[in-house]
Amino acid sequence: MKTSCLKIAAPLALLGCLLAGCHTTVQPRSVYRPPPFPEAAALPAQPSLPDPLVMFDGRRVKSRAQWFHERRPELKALFQHYMYGALPPRPAFVRASHEAVYPDFLGGKATLKLVSLQTGPPGAPQIDLMLVVPNGRRAPAPVFLAMNFCGNQALTADPRVPLARGWLYDFCPGCSNNAATGAARGSQAADWPLERIVERGYALAAFCSSDIDSDRANVSDGLYAWLANGDPARNNPTNRGTLVAWAWGFHRCVDYLVTDLDLDPRRVCALGHSRNAKTALLAAALDERIAIAFPHQAGCGGSAPSRGTVGESVQRINTAFPHWFNAEFKQFNDAPDRLPFDQNGLVALCAPRAVLFSAAQGDQWANPAGQFEVLRATEPVYRFLGVEGLTAKKIPPIGRLVGGRLGYYLREGKHSMTAGDWEVFMDFADRQWGQPRQ
Ligand code: GCU
Repeated sequence: MKTSCLKIAAPLALLGCLLAGCHTTVQPRSVYRPPPFPEAAALPAQPSLPDPLVMFDGRRVKSRAQWFHERRPELKALFQHYMYGALPPRPAFVRASHEAVYPDFLGGKATLKLVSLQTGPPGAPQIDLMLVVPNGRRAPAPVFLAMNFCGNQALTADPRVPLARGWLYDFCPGCSNNAATGAARGSQAADWPLERIVERGYALAAFCSSDIDSDRANVSDGLYAWLANGDPARNNPTNRGTLVAWAWGFHRCVDYLVTDLDLDPRRVCALGHSRNAKTALLAAALDERIAIAFPHQAGCGGSAPSRGTVGESVQRINTAFPHWFNAEFKQFNDAPDRLPFDQNGLVALCAPRAVLFSAAQGDQWANPAGQFEVLRATEPVYRFLGVEGLTAKKIPPIGRLVGGRLGYYLREGKHSMTAGDWEVFMDFADRQWGQPRQ
C-alpha cells in the first residue's frame, strides 16, 4: 500500500508535512472579505432572475478583472451566506493510500484503482474512491468524478470493490438496515456503463456521499460531527448545509485526482444525479479546478430557479430537507424573490468553464423549462467573458444536445440516470475537448 500526503494549507501543517517528507501544494489565500450582509427581510424583492453582472451594491461589472476579483468572490460569499452555508475549511492535509491496483478490470480494458483518502487527522471523513482508468492510453485520461447514492459496490459486480462503510438510503437495492450487503454488488451497474466510458477514452472516479456525511436531518456522522468536535450547538440540523459538505468532498477527491499521473488534471469533470447533481454544480462553482459540471436533473437548489413556479419550491425543499441548506435560506420560504441571486449566479461562478444541464420531460419536479431559463440568464456572463455560452434561444426538441460552453439536453422519461444519459455526458465533453486521444 502506497501512501502520499497531498495538500497543506496552514503554515504549521506545512511544517509538519515538510518534516514528514510530503509533497505539498500551497493555495493562494483569497483577499476578499465579505461585508456583513443584511437580513433577508431587508432585501428588495426582485421578481426576475437577478443579473450576475450587477454587484450587490448595484454597480455593473465593467471588466474581466472586476468579475474575477470582485464580483465572483462576492457571489461565492452571497451563496454561502444566504443559502448553502459556509464551505468547510480545506483540511491541513489529505492522505491518499492506494489500497489496490488491478490492471485486469473489465477484461483488461481498464485498471481499477482503489484509493482511500483520509481528509485530515483521525475523525475526519475517509473517502473510498474507486477509479476506473482505460488501459493502453498514451495520454492521461479526462475523468468524470461522480458522487453516488448507494456506494461504489453498486456500480460493478466485481467483488474486489469494498462495500460502502456508511449509512445508506432505504431505497438502495441490496441494502439492509441502511447498510450495504453483498446483494448490493452491481445493483446499479446498468446505469453506470463502465465499459462504454473507458471505450470512449474517459476515466471514472466514484465515491459515495455517505463517506462525507449521511443524508439525515437529525444525524451528522461525518464531516459536521467532526467539525463540531462534540459541541451539539455547532451541529444544528437546520443550519448545517449537507450539500456544501458534499461539495467539500468533491474538492478532496479533486485534491487527489490532480496528482494522479494517469489522469489529465485540466480535465476533471464533476457529475451527479439529483441531490448529487446540486452538489456537483456547487462543487464546480466553488472550485476552478473542475473543468466541466454535469448536474443531471438537479432541480431546485441546483439547476432550477428558486423563483420558479413549476415543481419543487424553496419552501418545499427546506421543509423536506432542512439539513441541505443553512438557516438563512429558510427566511426565503415565502419570498424567494428576495434572494439577491438565483441559480444563474451559481452557473455564472463556473464561467467560462462548461456546464451541461440534462433534464427529463417526465421530471417536472425538477422544472426542465426553468432550467433552460437559468442557462439563458447566465449566457450574458459567458458572452462578457468572450466565449459562447448557450447557443439556443428556445428549448430544443427532445433528444437534441445544444449549446457551446453552456449545454442543455432534454430527453423523454423520468427522474433517473441511465446509460443513455452517459452517452450525452460524453458527447458534451467531446464537444468541449474533442474525443480523448487514445
Ligand atoms: C427529492 C427532492 C429533490 C431531489 C431528489 C433526489 O425529490 O425533492 O430536490 O433532487 O429528491 O435527490 O432524488
